Amino acid sequence: MDMYDTGHLYDRLQVLEREEMPLGRRERLSFMERPLLAWYSSRARSLPWRDDPEPYRVWISEIMLQQTRVEAVKPYFERFMEAFPTVSHLAQAEDDYLMKMWEGLGYYNRARNLKAAARMIMSEYGGCLPASFDELIRLPGIGSYTAGAIASIAYGIPLPAVDGNVLRVISRVLGDREDIKKASVKAGIEAELKDVMPRDEASHYNQGLIEIGALVCIPGGEPRCSQCPLASICLTRKNGWWKEIPYKSPDKARKIEERTVFIIEYQDKVAIRKRPPKGLLASLYELPNIEGKASGEAVPQVLGLDREQVESVEQLPEAKHVFSHVEWHMTGYRVVLSKEENPLSCFMVSREDLEQTYALPNAFNAYTKLIG
Ligand code: ADE
Repeated sequence: MDMYDTGHLYDRLQVLEREEMPLGRRERLSFMERPLLAWYSSRARSLPWRDDPEPYRVWISEIMLQQTRVEAVKPYFERFMEAFPTVSHLAQAEDDYLMKMWEGLGYYNRARNLKAAARMIMSEYGGCLPASFDELIRLPGIGSYTAGAIASIAYGIPLPAVDGNVLRVISRVLGDREDIKKASVKAGIEAELKDVMPRDEASHYNQGLIEIGALVCIPGGEPRCSQCPLASICLTRKNGWWKEIPYKSPDKARKIEERTVFIIEYQDKVAIRKRPPKGLLASLYELPNIEGKASGEAVPQVLGLDREQVESVEQLPEAKHVFSHVEWHMTGYRVVLSKEENPLSCFMVSREDLEQTYALPNAFNAYTKLIG
C-alpha cells in the first residue's frame, strides 16, 4: 500500500480499464475521496483562516483569496481583522478607511460588496452569516464558489466550492477538454462534485482540492504529479495532456488607453483627487491624470497654469497597468509648483496623510513610489 492508500485503487482502475470498461466520470471522481482526505490531513498548510474557521473569517479570506496568492493575503487578512473584527464593525466601516484597508488588493468593488453584505447580515441575520447556500448566495459579492466555501468550511455543509483551482484539478482528473470559462462547465462540475463528495468531511474535501490546485496541480507550469494524491486516478497524468488541459478559450483583447499622470508638488504636499463614484476605480483617490500622451512643453497648459506658476517639469518613466478589460499605458511628469494651486480639481495633501489616509490604487504604483 502506498502512502495515500491509492495502491488498491490503482489496481482497480487498471483492471477496469484493461477490461475495456472505461470509468465513467462519476466513478473516477468518487475514487478521489480517500487519497484526497489523507493527503489533506498530512499536507494542508496552517493558515490563519483555516486554524480558526469562523464564518466571518472564512468569508473575508475567501474574498481576498479570489484575487491574490495566499502568502500575499496573510498580512492583509490580519490587518483587516484588527480593523473590522466583526460583521458589525464592517457594516459600520467608514468608506475611505475601508478602501485604505483594502489598498493594494485591487478589485475594490469586492470591498464595497463586503460592506453592503455586512449591512444585510446585520439587518437580516442578526450579525451572523447564514448557514445556508441559498441565503449566502443572495449576499452582494457572493457567488457559487464563495457560498460553497463558507457553507462547507465554516458550517460543514456538503456542497462543493469550485474556483479556478478546482476546475483545473477536476478537468485534469477527468481529461475533460471543455472550456472551463463556460458557466455550464463549472455548473456541471459543481453538480458532479456535490454528488460524490463526503457528507461529513466537506470542509477538508473542498480545501484539499483547492490546496492541490495551489500546490501540486499548479497554474501556468508543469504539474507536480509525483506529489499528487490523485495521480493514479488522473487521466491527464496518464496521457501526458497537462499542456492542453484545462482548456480555456482566449480572453478578449483589452482596450488600450494612453494616459498622462502627474505628480504635482508644492513644498511638502502632493496633489490628489477623488475619482467619480461610478466606473473604473470608483471613489478611490488618484494622482491627477488626463487621457492621451501629453508632451513636456504642453504640461503647464494642460494643467491650466501659467508658466510662472510652474517651477519645473520633469519627465518620469513610462509605466503600464493591466486591469481586467483595459490597459493603461502611462507617461508621467513631476511638476513642482511655485505657489499652491489646485489644478485639475485636485487638493493638496501632506505625504504623511497620503500614506496613512488616502487609498491610491496599484495602477499608480509606478508613480506613487516616486513621490519623495
Ligand atoms: N484559495 C482560495 N481559497 C483558499 C483556501 N481556503 N485556502 C487556501 N487557498 C485558497
